[in-house]
This record gives sequence, structure tokens and C-alpha cells, in this order.
Amino acid sequence: MQNNDWKNDELYVSLVEDLLATDMVKNLANYTQHHHSTRLEHSISVSYDSYKIARRAGLDYRAVARAGLLHDLFFYDWRTTKFDLGSHAFIHPRVALRNAEKITDLSPIEKDIILKHMWGLTLARPKYKESVIVSLVDDLEAVREFSSPLKEKLSTKLSKVF
Ligand SMILES: [Fe+2]
Ligand SMILES: [Fe+2]
Repeated sequence: MQNNDWKNDELYVSLVEDLLATDMVKNLANYTQHHHSTRLEHSISVSYDSYKIARRAGLDYRAVARAGLLHDLFFYDWRTTKFDLGSHAFIHPRVALRNAEKITDLSPIEKDIILKHMWGLTLARPKYKESVIVSLVDDLEAVREFSSPLKEKLSTKLSKVF
């Protein structure tokens, strides 16, 4: 289940609402990301959690919010395409950047965030702290989204026992 806290954060909404209104971003809702979430839910989670960290750290939270939302702006199912994982990790940030440029102007930091978010699996090192934040939050969200039904199962079991 998606956490909807972001909807009550007026500053955050003001930073991304033009992007959320585009057909391209809306279309992310039609793709499954990590088994239990859509690519849109995943993108908002990465964007919002990264924005909160960047804001606390005094970094460019606008760039983090916007590029975080656009970091996976691609439209194929990465589990069924012919790419191997390495190729997908290399290719999809470039596809996302090209798509993002069709709907908004991107600052150098925003471009770096999108292109380097697979850092770790790909060699390209982030140039900015903002890019490191989005890359780390992306990894954390993948783990969280993948395991959330497991957590629910566990808490249901616990509530039956105690
Ligand atoms: Fe990605
Ligand atoms: Fe992602």
C-alpha cells in the first residue's frame, strides 16, 4: 500500500504537480515495478523520501524531488524484455533521461540524478550528493516494496498470536 503522506506536503506537491499532470508520468501507473507496486508508486516514494533527506541536509531538494520522480521514466517491463540485468541497468536511465527531457527542462543536477541512479550496478559515479541520495533511496525502496507483503503476513500472524 502506498504511503500518501506526500499529498499533504504542500511544498513537495508544488514542486512536482506539473510533472504528475503529464500523460507520460501518469502512464507509469500501468507498469509493475517491484512485484507489489506500480512504477508510479515507486517513483513517488523515491522522489518524496529523497526530497525529505535533501531538505534536511540543505541540498537541492527541488532537483531531488523532480528528478527522483522521473528517474524510472521508461515504458517496458524490465522483467520480460530481452535485456539482461546489466543491460537494463545501463539502458533505462538513458531512456528515462530522454523521456524526461520531452516534458521538462532539466538542470545539470537533475540530469545527473537520473543518469547515475543505478550507480553500484553501473560504473558511472554520481557527480552530486543529490544523485547519491536518490540512488540509495531507490535501493532501499526496492527492498521495502519487495518485502512489504511479507511484513504484512508477519504482522497478521503476530496479531493472531498475541
Ligand atoms: Fe531505475
Ligand atoms: Fe527506481
